[in-house]
Amino acid sequence: MRTVAVVGSQWGDEGKGKIVDLLAADADVVVRFQGGNNAAHTLVVNGEKFILRLVPSGALHDGKVCVIGSGTVVDPFALLEEIDALKKRSYLNGEGRLRLSYDAHIVMPYHRAIDRAREARLGKGAIGTTGFGIGPAYEDKMSRQGLRFDDLADWKTFREKLERNIKEKNLYLKAVLKAKPIDGDALIAATSKLRRRILPYLCDTGAFVAEAARAGKRILFEGAHGTMLDIDYGTYPFVTSSNCVASAVFAGGGLPPGQLDATLGISKAYATRVGSGPFPTEIHGRLGDKLRSEGGEFGSATGRPRRIGWFDAVLARYAVRVNGMWGLAVTKLDVLSGIDPVKICVGYMVGKERYDEIPPGRHALAKAKPLYEEMPGWSGGLNGAKSLEELPANARRYIERLGQLTGVPIAMVGVGASRDATIVLKNPFRD
Ligand code: GDP
Ligand code: IMO
Ligand code: MG
Repeated sequence: MRTVAVVGSQWGDEGKGKIVDLLAADADVVVRFQGGNNAAHTLVVNGEKFILRLVPSGALHDGKVCVIGSGTVVDPFALLEEIDALKKRSYLNGEGRLRLSYDAHIVMPYHRAIDRAREARLGKGAIGTTGFGIGPAYEDKMSRQGLRFDDLADWKTFREKLERNIKEKNLYLKAVLKAKPIDGDALIAATSKLRRRILPYLCDTGAFVAEAARAGKRILFEGAHGTMLDIDYGTYPFVTSSNCVASAVFAGGGLPPGQLDATLGISKAYATRVGSGPFPTEIHGRLGDKLRSEGGEFGSATGRPRRIGWFDAVLARYAVRVNGMWGLAVTKLDVLSGIDPVKICVGYMVGKERYDEIPPGRHALAKAKPLYEEMPGWSGGLNGAKSLEELPANARRYIERLGQLTGVPIAMVGVGASRDATIVLKNPFRD
């Protein structure tokens, strides 16, 4: 297959970056198609750790073209920092390695200020956003007040629009949110300085991706966040502000509809969530703390402790459906070693009713009580296993059960953080 999307099937941080990095070896082009630097994708290669926020996770392979598509929102200051850090480590070198869509929207410091001030005002009812201004930037896009990278070409007009926006945002920050306004002059000066560095990356990425697909190139689309954080399909309002599901590849990545060959969903062998919102299988107390510490479950974007839960097969089936999943990669199986028994949520009770699918009315999820199936655990390190046969029998049975319950082939199993600690059962580019 030639065009493959990788998407999260839970609430983000499933290990998408690691799988994209692995698959990128067989790809020509790697495309981010939504989200911004609220994403944080961790790659561990030859013992070195990299956290990518905006640059696609193909950056560590020589000669691959990395594309940031029109569906993204990009903080240019953060992007340049990320590029500099990668170049310092001798990555992303060479002409045309990174292409940024003219049509992507610019995240500005006033978006961050609004995001943070709103969250502070919500107090206990806060969404728990990353605070990087993603929601306010998408709002401006939809209300047609956003600034796009394309606008940067003509500084005079850009400056006028930026001044207009700063004025309006500062009014809103002061009068409504009772927050500190941003320093408009400093922002204009910094943007004018940054402009010359950004312009060389700009590209009609839609045309580039469509032409690459027509030419039969292998294209890998890197989803950010996860299905349950999707603005339409997730646990609204505790979601992010973009579509994170596979269908966003077309609008935000430039692939003509109908040309996506496969979607690989990524899921942890358990579940995590950062921020507020319903989480039916959440584990509180000592066991949750143990998994958090074994799995290093602290947000790579914000350092916040991630909430921990059991694998939820009901939500996984939902993610399989909405993404039209071809296969599922299950990551972090190693983290469950030493836990006995392991539990899988196979249905819910809401009041006296049993549900095998998400109960109707999204608010019901907050009231859903999970029904668990228990399986005997296993122990010992799994790192180094190259095939299912090398796993303890109970770990293998657990993976088989996840395949049965989700109704989708298990394509990969993660047994450690590094690129090679992955059992590959099916590779979409090689099948
Ligand atoms: P992403 O946002 O979906 O790319 O995921 P993150 O990078 O935010 O979080 C996943 C974390 O788990 C990272 O620290 C990865 O290095 C790590 N990781 C990924 N796969 C595995 C695995 O199979 N086992 C272990 N132990 N860690 C993994
Ligand atoms: P990756 O790509 C985990 C969550 C935030 C918050 C909600 C809204 O690394 O998997 P936002 O700043 O987007 O407005 O926050 O979404 N969130 C993520 N959680 N991983 C992510 O990305 C996330 N991106 C957003 O924690 O609950
Ligand atoms: Mg992450």
